[in-house]
Amino acid sequence: MSIACAPGKIILFGEHAVVYGRPALAVPVTQLQATAEVQESPVAGIWVEAPDISLHSELTCLPAGHALRTVIESVFRTLNLPAPPPLRIRVTATIPVASGLGSGAAVSVAIIRALCSFLGQSLSDEQVNALAYNAEKLYHGTPSGIDNTVITYGRPVYFVRGQPIETFRTARAFTLLIGDTGIPAPTRESVGDVRKLWEADRRQWEAVFDAVGEIVRAARDAIESGHIPALGPLMNANHALLQAMTVSGPELDRLVLAARQAGALGAKLSGGGRGGNMIALVTPERAESVAAALRSAGAKNTIITTIQENP
Ligand code: PMV
Repeated sequence: MSIACAPGKIILFGEHAVVYGRPALAVPVTQLQATAEVQESPVAGIWVEAPDISLHSELTCLPAGHALRTVIESVFRTLNLPAPPPLRIRVTATIPVASGLGSGAAVSVAIIRALCSFLGQSLSDEQVNALAYNAEKLYHGTPSGIDNTVITYGRPVYFVRGQPIETFRTARAFTLLIGDTGIPAPTRESVGDVRKLWEADRRQWEAVFDAVGEIVRAARDAIESGHIPALGPLMNANHALLQAMTVSGPELDRLVLAARQAGALGAKLSGGGRGGNMIALVTPERAESVAAALRSAGAKNTIITTIQENP
């Protein structure tokens, strides 16, 4: 049997503006994992099992355009395997679905790597990333590619659409709290709504995206020079611009406010918005009490994660 895992991810800064060519920062979240197991099947066919979404099906019985079918078939195509052997592919994940934590991309990357390993083939990270990006299009419509990139490479990424992957240094570790609204995050919808705003008044929204880009660059400088407290106000400013883009929502705003009132240095939504997750910058000492405040304010789940020093 071959097994491969892939982490979840969070976007620290720059979501939505990243679709329009501005930079964004994202990091892997290793407490959250997708796992794919591939083994020989005793019965003919390619059997796909994903118990988390109650799926058990032969590959060709899945609708054309199904993300799992697409990603598996794309691996066979890339490896030039028109008649793959009978296989059983089982996928599980501790990453909540549709919450902005990268579950779709993580599942794709885990499947691609487990399949390659079982078939005794290897693909470069670049190829894995490209295949995962194709599957992302089915989840998101017009994804920037940030999710598949940070998850494929498994390291902090300063991402600019269409440019070679760039990682960034973390001069000093910092602690983030992730708070889940428990509401599915319709990334495709929020991305579509921002596009409508942009189409109606490109000048205005290009200026907003430029402002986000400035925040992202300042945040990268702060992380690289170890001025962690500077990230707090930058998060707050980024959240305000995301509110202007109409991608926050009452539940996200409530959690963001609760985090700040409980002593977080800053907080913002993370990912597509409307639902899904928010993040708060906290000191390690305050992490538990801010997490408790988030749960009292309605968070369905909280995760404390440390972005490790990586000088
Ligand atoms: O909802 P998530 O975490 O998958 O993030 C979407 C990020 C956006 O910038 C809103 C869209 C994109 O493709 O980059």
